[in-house]
Amino acid sequence: MRKKVSIVGAGNVGATAAHWIADKELADVVLVDVIEGVPQGKGLDLLEAMPIAKRDVHVSGSNDYAATANSDVVIITAGIPRKPGMIRDDLLHTNFKIMSDVVAKVVAQSPESILIIVSNPLDAMAQTAYRQAGFNRERVIGMAGVLDSARFRAFIAEELNVSVENVTAFVLGGHGDTMVPLARYSTVAGIPITELIAPERVEQLVQRTRDGGAEIVKHLKTGSAFYAPSAATVEMAEAILKDKKKILPCAAYLDGEYGISGYYIGVPCKLGAAGLEQIIEIKLTAEEDAALKKSAAAVKELCAVIGV
Ligand code: NAI
Ligand code: 2OP
Repeated sequence: MRKKVSIVGAGNVGATAAHWIADKELADVVLVDVIEGVPQGKGLDLLEAMPIAKRDVHVSGSNDYAATANSDVVIITAGIPRKPGMIRDDLLHTNFKIMSDVVAKVVAQSPESILIIVSNPLDAMAQTAYRQAGFNRERVIGMAGVLDSARFRAFIAEELNVSVENVTAFVLGGHGDTMVPLARYSTVAGIPITELIAPERVEQLVQRTRDGGAEIVKHLKTGSAFYAPSAATVEMAEAILKDKKKILPCAAYLDGEYGISGYYIGVPCKLGAAGLEQIIEIKLTAEEDAALKKSAAAVKELCAVIGV
């Protein structure tokens, strides 16, 4: 039997994630949204693309959570995106209400599912979903690090004129201005970028990565990035659906790892059939450790505002 993925929020990120999942033939997909007709229309449009794409998956849309019953993975992108002049934290109160409502409905239909949270502000929304779902931490994971790392990787590949396939990078911490791109652990064909790019240029690429979301918002003006975010989300879903045991930077609920307890923050995670199967603790310099703790403090502050 094919796997089933439901995506709540059939907007830019959600619908594009559905497209990637269908095109990779990973699972049947159900799109859900509050707007009548949008998930149905996008789902049907994608279904009709499948004979051309030569993919045997079923895609549909609904406003009713009954359609999501018994999903293996549920991706939650419901909420509002930021507009120019806004930071992710400006979305906090609106998306908190939406996330709480959505997770209750999702869990009622798919009590065994694994949740991938995308809505912003990411780390606080993952925490909201974790508290609301009552699942163990293995089954509630946030998407941000894969996206932030992909941005860093794209900039490094462009800078050195090398294949993106040669570039690995790790961005840890919260999904915001305090994120922690780890240049030391970022490599080109195994060579640390610190040996290939001058320190001041590395710092510029790091800053561009931190500002990556805002750079796209500035261009688009009506919303935020969605191609790379949806691709990043689907890389996580694929690792879970195919039990790949893939190590990716994800927002996970920390319970003492990295000296942090009780909060979601981006760290290297092994994803497989059980969801979050392991948190990998890498050795950080004092400076990197301080940056991660500062990022965790920013997440803690946001969580306190919404009481999660
Ligand atoms: P969008 O506006 O295109 O789509 C959001 C969808 O959610 C809309 O179709 C809306 O009708 C729906 N929605 C709102 N309330 C709902 C509810 N109660 N139940 C079901 N659906 C509901 O926005 P986009 O660009 O898809 O972004 C979605 C969210 O993902 C935003 O919060 C954005 O900031 C976040 N995001 C996070 C990223 C990350 O790295 N974690 C990257 C990109 C976006
Ligand atoms: C981004 O980084 C909006 O969080 C989203 O593009």
